[in-house]
Order: sequence, then structure tokens, then C-alpha cells
Amino acid sequence: MSKVALTVNGKPVEVEVEHRTLLSTVLREALGLTGTHIGCDTSQCGACTVHLDGRVVKSCTVLAVQVQGQSVKTIEGLAPSFDASGARLHPVQQAFSECHALQCGFCTPGMIMAVTGLLQDHPQPDDQQIIHGLEGNLCRCTGYVNIIKAVKQAAQMMQA
Ligand code: FES
Ligand code: FES
Repeated sequence: MSKVALTVNGKPVEVEVEHRTLLSTVLREALGLTGTHIGCDTSQCGACTVHLDGRVVKSCTVLAVQVQGQSVKTIEGLAPSFDASGARLHPVQQAFSECHALQCGFCTPGMIMAVTGLLQDHPQPDDQQIIHGLEGNLCRCTGYVNIIKAVKQAAQMMQA
């Protein structure tokens, strides 16, 4: 077992983990942040996507011992990072809601974390950049059309 100190959604935490424990397991089971979903555990679906030191990562592909001293943001930390009270949705969450970019919602937290990373790199993405940016995130329900609409609307909202 090892102790790992990290920051999660702006708060310092310390967890004791086995060397094989995944970051996704720590987030969900040790910290109760169940907005990070597990769809496959084999690095394919993107449901577990979070930000690690500002980079988009699939948390099922990261060992908890690797994140010593690093900063993780999950879907639970997204709205408060935009509006300190957390009372308002982040523009990407708002756009997903307004554009009906979800059905069952299982993929949505990971999709939204991937989109926020995409918009950091491409503040006004075209269709190809959106498709490329979300190729690691699978949705079984929406057909992606409304997800692409939501990304474009979020980009406009964030420019304004
Ligand atoms: S659970 Fe991590 S990619 Fe599917
Ligand atoms: S909304 Fe159901 S998997 Fe994406």
C-alpha cells in the first residue's frame, strides 16, 4: 500500500492505495465522486474522462500512485470552477442540456470533460476538430449530432 496526496476539485486529499489501484477507482470508491463513470475499464469508452493537471485523461488508464502531487478535476468540480458558488452550470453543461445532447446520460460526464478540454485547445472548433476531439468518447444513444451542436453552442457561450 502507498499513500498518495493529490488535489481533487481544488481540495487536498490523501488516500491509501494498492499499487494496482486505478485513479477511477479512487475517485468513485474512496472519494465518492461517482460522476466519473466506468463503462469499459479498457480505455475505450471515455466515460471515466477527467482532467489531470489540466489535461484530458481517461482515469481508468491512470494508476493512482502516478498522480502523487497532481491536480484532478472531475465533473463535480466543473461548475464550481466556472462559478465559485457552483449555482450555475458550466457553459458546456448548459449547452448539452439546451441542445438535448444526451439521452441515458451515461457517457455525458466524460463527454463534457472531454469537450471542456477540446475547447481549451480549439475555442471555435469546426466539425472535424470536434469529431477528432471526441473520438475517444463513445455514446450509445445520441448519434452525436446534438453533441456536435452542443459543442458549437458552448463555444459561442464561452466566447460571449
Ligand atoms: S471506463 Fe475508462 S475508457 Fe471506459
Ligand atoms: S447518452 Fe446514452 S450513452 Fe451517451
